[in-house]
Amino acid sequence: MTLDINYVREQFPGLNTDWVFMDNAGGSQILKGVVDNINEYYYSHNVQLGGSYEISQKAAAAYQKGRENIATFFNAARTEEIVFGPSSTILLQFLSKSMASQFQAGDEVIVTITDHESNIGPWVWLEEKGVIVKFWPMNKETYELELEELDKLMTNKTKLVAVVHASNLLGTINNVKEIAKFVHDRGAKICVDAVAYAPHRAVDVQDWDVDFYALSLYKTFGPHHAALYVRYDHLQELDGLYHYFYGKDKIPAKMEPGNANYELSYGSGAIVDYLVELGTQAGSTGSRRDKLVAAFDDITEQEMLIGERLLSYLRKRNDCTIIGIKDGMDPRRVPTIAFTIDGKDPEQVCIAMDKYKIAMRFGDFHARRLADSMDISKDNGAMRVSMTHYNTIEEVDALTAALDKVLRE
Ligand SMILES: Cc1ncc(COP(=O)(O)O)c(C=O)c1O
Repeated sequence: MTLDINYVREQFPGLNTDWVFMDNAGGSQILKGVVDNINEYYYSHNVQLGGSYEISQKAAAAYQKGRENIATFFNAARTEEIVFGPSSTILLQFLSKSMASQFQAGDEVIVTITDHESNIGPWVWLEEKGVIVKFWPMNKETYELELEELDKLMTNKTKLVAVVHASNLLGTINNVKEIAKFVHDRGAKICVDAVAYAPHRAVDVQDWDVDFYALSLYKTFGPHHAALYVRYDHLQELDGLYHYFYGKDKIPAKMEPGNANYELSYGSGAIVDYLVELGTQAGSTGSRRDKLVAAFDDITEQEMLIGERLLSYLRKRNDCTIIGIKDGMDPRRVPTIAFTIDGKDPEQVCIAMDKYKIAMRFGDFHARRLADSMDISKDNGAMRVSMTHYNTIEEVDALTAALDKVLRE
């Protein structure tokens, strides 16, 4: 492996503390390069866009650069296919609102039981228009979504399937390319929530042929900001959310009503600069996109190591139920690892872990319907250790040592 963990950690000033951050699926640390970009924007061209004067032009160019970088992150065919917004939740709500006129009473939408509410609620809202919402269940033994089950639900009235790329509770990666083909073959569109996937693997909206794809930049080493990919032809069809005099052709601004957050959009570009640098260090000599892909290969390798270290500890405990794939760091898993311990309240365990300066989390993680279906909501849900590539084996060992003590208390 070529990942230089010291270099990696130096890029995240927030890691310079005695806390161990194992709540990265809640929010990751931010890259220094992102903060520098945001400062640069504020200090050198914090003016309103659209002016004829030079600094306003520079501000517009910076905003455009941010969008270009994020388009590289998604591997979007066109820069305008990237819509910025404050959160994935809002972007998905905007999407359903701007698609509402495309639905008739009796049309069907399929959502999954494994999704975060952000990619369920906006589609359930369409019930007000007479749209029928169906739930794609998971196999309760394997915690997986199966195409045979989707097949049973899809009809010629199905217009959209909304699915999570990696569950923020199960850690399971769904095969989005396969699902997208299945859905398209049956004449529907696919909307993917990639919030819990994007920090872990390279995104490729063209290869997977998805229609809509959302992610949160604050969980992907950036600021509190989010991006939604909308395939260009679909973007043209969407109803605009901006003023009436901005027509359907004002792309993508019609999906970004009001003034967008220029500084965070520009700042987020440094996420891609960082990944390009990691790819260069990994020996890639190709395009920026090639380097980004090489970076994610190294990131995955590091995550496999630390994920397996934790899973093997949890597997050895006979009081522990791992939620999701447990047999090892299967490539279909991200290191977002939730579990319950017999007779232990997840809230109390997390509070006890605070004393050891281990930041982890408990609850249903807003995958409320999934937690309800597993009957864990009433017991404070589960504990979740969510790691990313800057976490180390030593940190996992500190976590398991602390957990040993806490669970003995
Ligand atoms: C899988 C998943 N989807 C959506 C969201 C919501 O993201 P945002 O806070 O950007 O709305 C989260 C946040 O935890 C998540 O984990």
